[in-house]
Amino acid sequence: MTNPATTTQQSGAIPAQPGPREVTAVTDGMTPGLGSSVEFGPGQASGGVIPGAGPSGKPGSRPTVKLREAGPDDPPRYAPEWLELRESADAAARAHDLLDPLRIRLANLPGRSGVVIHDLGCGTGSMGRWLAPRLDGAQHWVLHDRDPYLLHFAAVASPRSAADGSRVSVETRRGDIARLTPDALQGASLVTASALLDVLTREEIGTFAAACAGAGCPALLTLSVAGRVELTPSHPLDAELTQAFNDHQRRDGLLGPDAVTAAAEAFSEQGATVRLHPSPWRLGPEQAALTEQWLRGWVGAAVEERPELRAEADVYLSKRLAELAAGELRVTVHHVDLLALSRPVDGAS
Ligand SMILES: C[S@@+](CC[C@H](N)C(=O)[O-])C[C@H]1O[C@@H](n2cnc3c(N)ncnc32)[C@H](O)[C@@H]1O
Repeated sequence: MTNPATTTQQSGAIPAQPGPREVTAVTDGMTPGLGSSVEFGPGQASGGVIPGAGPSGKPGSRPTVKLREAGPDDPPRYAPEWLELRESADAAARAHDLLDPLRIRLANLPGRSGVVIHDLGCGTGSMGRWLAPRLDGAQHWVLHDRDPYLLHFAAVASPRSAADGSRVSVETRRGDIARLTPDALQGASLVTASALLDVLTREEIGTFAAACAGAGCPALLTLSVAGRVELTPSHPLDAELTQAFNDHQRRDGLLGPDAVTAAAEAFSEQGATVRLHPSPWRLGPEQAALTEQWLRGWVGAAVEERPELRAEADVYLSKRLAELAAGELRVTVHHVDLLALSRPVDGAS
């Protein structure tokens, strides 16, 4: 099986940052038999990019990668191009107000020469690239994802140094975070996740909150969709498409827009102090590429949920794309960031 962190990087989507790296790749066995390996080759479409969660691209424009042994029951995959496209909007949206209470908590850790941060569902690692340079002190990031292809990008483009210039090291772990145990988080100073909660079930979030509480570490869970969008100018179909998209997100028991409330409840039940802060994307003409892909995905998911909307939605999408091209469309996509400060446990952070 090809090790994602040692595979030659594909040219294109996420450039590696120059400079030294300390990267260790680990398959932690949380998902035995996942069985996928990464192969780079010409013209292979990756398939399975989640409708509504990212760009689907033009035929033939997909990344030149395929997953061996990927079957119909394998979980859906995220396109690195979509994660790259949203990274700067995510960075602009993240709630800085939650950082001070987090810094205070981390600064008060007893007898530590550095912190260990687990990023769950790390994708290509945008959370680490944002957070690591905003925290002082040496950091070791443990990047978790079930997609070895994304872990590869996360490893090669990992952050290099902390706010005060201290060393940042990285390891990757491939596995299913729905099966995370307190053991997997042993020694963790912080757990982070970004744009993840909405694709989990209530049970998975409960397991996750219990694992954090069991390890006694805080959690910073950012950019969970709130189920509200504002488009300017408004259109009579906006509300119906919003509802259909939200229903699509709730498919198969996933929490979608209910996730942040469920997480707040789950962490509170575990005795954590929970703080919430808005983190909206504010998309104007400067973010036209992201807005276009978001619009296509948003309308596409809504139509998948309610096929009878297709004809109206096609007209709607054309109109919205024309407004976007003319620099006349603004979109606010509401998200919420959550900081949960679990009670420290003996011998843990
Ligand atoms: C929307 S992407 C967000 C990626 C990244 N955190 C970011 O903000 O760019 C969700 C990520 O979670 C991963 N993921 C979803 N469910 C997972 C699970 N049960 N176990 C492990 N990874 C999962 C996906 O592979 C994907 O990389």
